[in-house]
Parts: sequence; structure tokens; C-alpha cells
Amino acid sequence: MSTPPAPGTDGGFDKILVVDFGAQYAQLIARRVREAKVYSEIVAPTISADEIRAKEPTGIIFSGGPDSVHAEGAILIDPGVYDLDVPILGICYGAQLIAQQNGGMVGRTDRGEYGRTVLSVDGDGGTMLGGTPSEQNVWMSHFDAITVAPEGSTATASTPDAPIAAFESQERGLFGVQFHPEVMHTEHGQHVIERFLRDGCGTLGDWTMASIIDTSVEQIRAQVGDKQVICALSGGVDSAVAAALVHKAIGEQLTCVHVDTGLMRLNEADQVIETFERNFGVRLVFVDASDRFFTALAGVTEPEAKRKAIGELFIRVFEDAKAEATDAGGSHADFLVQGTLYPDVIESGSEHASTIKSHHNVGGLPDDMEFELIEPLRSLFKDEVRMVGSELGLPEEIVQRQPFPGPGLGVRIIGEVTPDKVETLQQADFIVREELAKAGLEREIWQSFAVLPDIRSVGVMGDERTYGWPIIIRAVTSEDAMTADWARIPYETLEAMSSRVINEVPGVNRVAYDITSKPPGTIEWE
Ligand code: XMP
Repeated sequence: MSTPPAPGTDGGFDKILVVDFGAQYAQLIARRVREAKVYSEIVAPTISADEIRAKEPTGIIFSGGPDSVHAEGAILIDPGVYDLDVPILGICYGAQLIAQQNGGMVGRTDRGEYGRTVLSVDGDGGTMLGGTPSEQNVWMSHFDAITVAPEGSTATASTPDAPIAAFESQERGLFGVQFHPEVMHTEHGQHVIERFLRDGCGTLGDWTMASIIDTSVEQIRAQVGDKQVICALSGGVDSAVAAALVHKAIGEQLTCVHVDTGLMRLNEADQVIETFERNFGVRLVFVDASDRFFTALAGVTEPEAKRKAIGELFIRVFEDAKAEATDAGGSHADFLVQGTLYPDVIESGSEHASTIKSHHNVGGLPDDMEFELIEPLRSLFKDEVRMVGSELGLPEEIVQRQPFPGPGLGVRIIGEVTPDKVETLQQADFIVREELAKAGLEREIWQSFAVLPDIRSVGVMGDERTYGWPIIIRAVTSEDAMTADWARIPYETLEAMSSRVINEVPGVNRVAYDITSKPPGTIEWE
């Protein structure tokens, strides 16, 4: 019997490789393919034809890119890829590259086409455009244009400045579109992608959440055998879904460890216990380490020093808990569950990912722990992780939870972190999130929380002069946390947050709203 692939890999599903030629669109293409229920992976254009063959793809998509095929040093692909007998769809630069490398021609037009453009479909539209209107809106972004289609292929559409805006050859398995089917401004973009997947490649479209779970469960069982597994449960979405998935696979062999650092949001530790221990019946070692964290943080005010103190202590506490978990599990644990996601492993995005990590590795576990890793979410995007979580029966409050930094409220309290300040911030933070949820804004806001600065100001309440803390509300919209904009929350919602915080949280007499985008600000205050 052959060994099943490791958890988090394709698991034998049809697979589309998306070759990233440097456009910002590769991830979007990969996601559109997955929306069509076909598994996709992003690879760098330096991949060789042999490496592609080894991955056994059902189809390949070349993304767009900023280059011109005529430019010196333009990124090309190993031409051996055309002999693999795997259907290829080229998009924008990808289509031009296919033309260029297969006996077609790419010319320079007088002017490029940018934005919404009307596409005229020739004849029946062929495989990709068949069944769509003869005139339709597409999204264009190109300067060069294909003037001669690749040998043996037929042009199936044009636009005013792209005489061959789509071509295909079923026989050679070559397809190309000058427009961007992956962006939503292209009216029938998803249709084009699905026709390529189904009719061009013959994919089944069986990569569904339920089948992902079934396959992962099998993979995890095969990897673990009868050994013991440990999982650090932070309360965040990724570790929660990873733990639920591993628990479904191996039940009693899993022990979760939840460390309460004292820097969690209000009721967060209770919720983790409620969900995992009571509802799922997961063996949970709960460590209340808040006193140890407060002791370690006493007198520490410098942001990096705080992060370091929290990160180091977390590792020590986890090491201790590991011994306890081992006793609870009856034997030594050989595997550690990690909630690594696909964006962290995408080759072409690795620079990006590593910057985030080196900056934000606090709360992570050290590299030298003697465990084999189980990473069941390695192939999934965040929204897919959420869908898997829902399918597994995790509550909405966990599945839809916003990102939360490893060092927790420690980076949202400026200056020294004390139990009193944490309590103040927890209450204010709870109100901010509750009011945002009431306003129905939770899903469109990336993160929303309260910050407690290290200053006090004068106010008046009743007839009394007060000298209290301000609370700063931070709410941002973002795609990936690399950049962010301050959220335009309605005044009424801000007002409700402000009056509730001042009335309900002792010691707070002023509320401010942070209207800084990232850059120049960061999302967190420390
Ligand atoms: P900044 O503040 O740099 O944060 O704009 C970007 C994103 O990262 C989160 N963040 C962290 N996540 N450990 C984490 O796991 C950390 O130390 C950490 N610091 C910031 C932050 O909440 C935002 O989503």
C-alpha cells in the first residue's frame, strides 16, 4: 500500500498549479479555482517541467505579470511544460507567453487597455466562452497584445485593442485569455475558469469542505498511528480548527494545552474550556499562568522587552504543561499540532510571510522542540479554515474570531502591564466588540479593539472632577494586515461605545478613536 500524503497536502484530489508570474493576482486565481471545488497550489515560474510533472497536476494556470514578453530578462517558463500533456490556461501575460512560446506572436499596440472593456465573442465562443453573451464586460490590464494565436489554436474573442483576446486549442490543451477572469469586474470570469477546469481539464469538482475533512482525518490517522499528540490551543481560529480536526481523527490520543497568560480577552479562557472540554470532550490541560506573567511583566515598559518577556515565559509554561499533558495522556507525546496556513507556505510569497513572522513570532513555540509536526491546515486559506471549522461544529464566536496577537492585551496596554489595567482593558475591549457586533459590522472589520495608554486626563462626572484613563478605540479594515485603513464606523456606533465605556468601566473618563492607517501606523499600538 502506498503511504497517504501528509496532512495538509492535496490528498489525491485533482490539482491545478497556478504559476505566479509576479502579478498580485495569483492568490486570487488559486482561490477562484478552489471556489470551483478544485484544489489549487501556487508555484514560482522557476519551476522546471520535471518538477511540474512530479506534482501530477490536472491542469496549469499561468497568472498575469508586470513583464512584457519582449523585455530583456522577462520571466519565462521551462518550455518542456508544453510537452507534459497537461492543459494550460494563460491569463494576460500568461496568455502572451503561451503565444510567444508556441508559434504565435505578441505585438505592441499603440495604447494598452486598462479597466473595463467590452469583449466580443467569436462564433460559439469555444470551450471557455461557450454559453456566454456575444458581448460582455471584461477587466483588462495590458500593453502588449497577441496578434497571432499559437499554432493550431483558434481565436475566440476580441476587444478594440486586443485582436485576439481569447484563444484555445482543445487538441493541444492550450487556452489563453488576455483579460482577467479572476477579478469580479469580469462578468463571466468564473464561468471561464470553470469551463477550463471541467471541459479543458476534466476535473470533478469534488474538493468540498466535507471531503477535505474526510481526507485530512485519514491522513492524520495514517501519520499518527497509535502515538500521542499535543496541541497548544490559543483560542484563535487556526489552532481551534486544527485541534478540532485532529480530535476528530484521533480522539483520545490528543491532549490540548491552554495557557491563560492573564492577557486574554474577557471570558476567552472560559470559552476555550467550554467549547473543547465540555462540548467536544477533548482532553484539556488548562494552565492558569497569569500570576507568573504579571510577575514577569512587573516594571517592564519597553514594547520589545514586553514582547520578549511574554514570549519566553510562554515557552517555559508550555514546557511545564507538556509534562502534565504527557501524564494526562498516559505516555510521551510525539506530535505537535500547528495551525500553519497556506499563505505562510506559498513559495512566491515566502519573503512576505517571513517578514511578518520574524516581527511577530512572540507566543510561538521554539524550533527545537522534539516533536514531529502535524499541520492539517497547511493547504488552506483563512476563509477555508473558517468553513472547515463551521463544518466541524465549532461555534461562530470562535470560527469568526478576529486575529489576536500572541502577546495578547500586553501589546495594547502602553507602559507597565498590571492586573488592574488588564481588567480595565478587558471590559472596554468587550464593549467595543459587542457594540460593533450589534451594528452588524464584525465581518467587514478586520480587527477592532481597545487600547489603554499610559496617561490620565481631567474630566468631570456629575459634580466631581475626575482624573482617569482614556480608552483608545482602534478598528481597521484590511486584506492581509500588511496594510490597513481605519474603519469608517458610524458616529452612532462610536457614540454607543464611548458612553458605555465611560459609564461601565471604572477609572475611564475619556474615549478617543484612532484614525491612523497602516502605514504609517501599525495595527497594534506596540
Ligand atoms: P501590526 O501591529 O504590525 O500587526 O500592524 C499586524 C497583524 O499582526 C498581529 N500581530 C501579532 N500576531 N503575534 C501574533 O501572532 C504577535 O506578536 C503579533 N503582533 C501583531 C496584529 O494583531 C495584526 O493582525
